[in-house]
Amino acid sequence: MIAPESLPRVLHRASGRPLTLAQHDEAFGPMPRTAPSLDLLEASGLTGRGGAAFPTARKARLIADQRGHTKFMVVNAMEGEPAAHKDRTLISTNPHLVLDGAQYLAGLIGARQVAVCVSRDDPIMVNHLQRAVHERDRHAARGVSFELHTPPWRYVAGEESALVHWLDDNESLPQYRPRRPHILRIGHAPVLVDNAETCAHVGLIARYGSDWFRRLGTSTSPGTALVSVSGAVARPTVLEVALGVPVRAIIERAGADPNPQALLMGGYGGAWLDARHLDVPYSEDALIPLGSSVGAGVIIVLPRSGCGIVETFRIARWMANESARQCGPCAFGLPAVAEDLARLAAGDAPGAGAAYDRLVDRCGAIEGRGACRHPDGVVRLVRSALRVFADHVEDHVRGRACAASRSNHHYSAVPTLEREEELIWE
Ligand SMILES: Cc1cc2nc3c(=O)[nH]c(=O)nc-3n(C[C@H](O)[C@H](O)[C@H](O)COP(=O)(O)O)c2cc1C
Ligand code: SF4
Repeated sequence: MIAPESLPRVLHRASGRPLTLAQHDEAFGPMPRTAPSLDLLEASGLTGRGGAAFPTARKARLIADQRGHTKFMVVNAMEGEPAAHKDRTLISTNPHLVLDGAQYLAGLIGARQVAVCVSRDDPIMVNHLQRAVHERDRHAARGVSFELHTPPWRYVAGEESALVHWLDDNESLPQYRPRRPHILRIGHAPVLVDNAETCAHVGLIARYGSDWFRRLGTSTSPGTALVSVSGAVARPTVLEVALGVPVRAIIERAGADPNPQALLMGGYGGAWLDARHLDVPYSEDALIPLGSSVGAGVIIVLPRSGCGIVETFRIARWMANESARQCGPCAFGLPAVAEDLARLAAGDAPGAGAAYDRLVDRCGAIEGRGACRHPDGVVRLVRSALRVFADHVEDHVRGRACAASRSNHHYSAVPTLEREEELIWE
């Protein structure tokens, strides 16, 4: 088997049907029989595709260095982000590539068990993964045992400490922990958690090497990544792109409105990007200085006819409902932020001006004060909205809400409100 030279890579042979193990081995060739190598993974420069873009080899080394313990490898296929569809697309195509990567990572850290986690509320994905795991069981020679776990769906269930806590005692709540590096454990056993797409890239790096992986992408953001593109596009779609391509090229392939107002990058816990920056390379190092990020591989296109303040309100309100309600700043702060965004969106002076001032204060009071990063995601989103839509915000504060804010048409994937009046809390 010859390595796929061009795109797609992790979506190679995508047919809308998951490849069986035999078809998979034929498409990608066998996994190497040599011992897994951390140096190889490090040389690839792969970073996590689950949202935080942390170097995959560095995480694996931390767990590999824990000697004398039973260890676990966890595949995070929860895909809790509502606008994301990338892990589903991958698993509907090449589930065994994900399992190959997980097996390789398990070998690296010295784990003999892999827990594959997918939401029980997504029966199609459960079915695909169940079949793939059973096929692996029949070929036990592959050395590592796989077990499927199906936590209930909620946005924070895919946060890694919530996932590990669920595996430990069936409660899907994020745990307080110091900022990284920190070792998550099931009982006393150290755990490595990697996103499904990250694992799939590992499955290819193990076969074809780090130089092959680096043939696409940039020197600091090597390889390819999956992107879920939606909003004002002709074809909401999941694309595999080389990191570093212009953002404009990605949205054009989905048939985006040619003159958008802004893009929501990264997901609901991501940030707005002003459409003046459409030619920025799609990579963390190019997007972060603009206050945005690749995040969970999501792009939502907002057309000129949309209202960024209303979209931000709808997402913030949804995110407030997804709080695990363990931490005060998250449980009480996020609904208050959503309420102030509703007042700002309604644009009734002077209430809108006071709401704006409170939003700025609340973002400062909430940031960094949750056990997990869920509230920080909302703060990032709101701050980006106040910056990118600054002119609109000023109009709303002065009591001149735009016509779009009264329209029923919305671009974020949040379910539409039943009654328009719900937008206004008073
Ligand atoms: C609120 C919240 C929800 C998350 N949900 C997911 C998820 O559904 N799937 C996922 O892979 N990572 C999710 N993450 C990121 C994980 O915590 C973790 O960083 C990731 O699984 C690590 O894998 P990676 O290094 O391969 O990216 C979430 C993070 C937060 C803060
Ligand atoms: S910050 Fe929010 S979502 Fe995270 S643990 Fe605390 S209450 Fe739960």
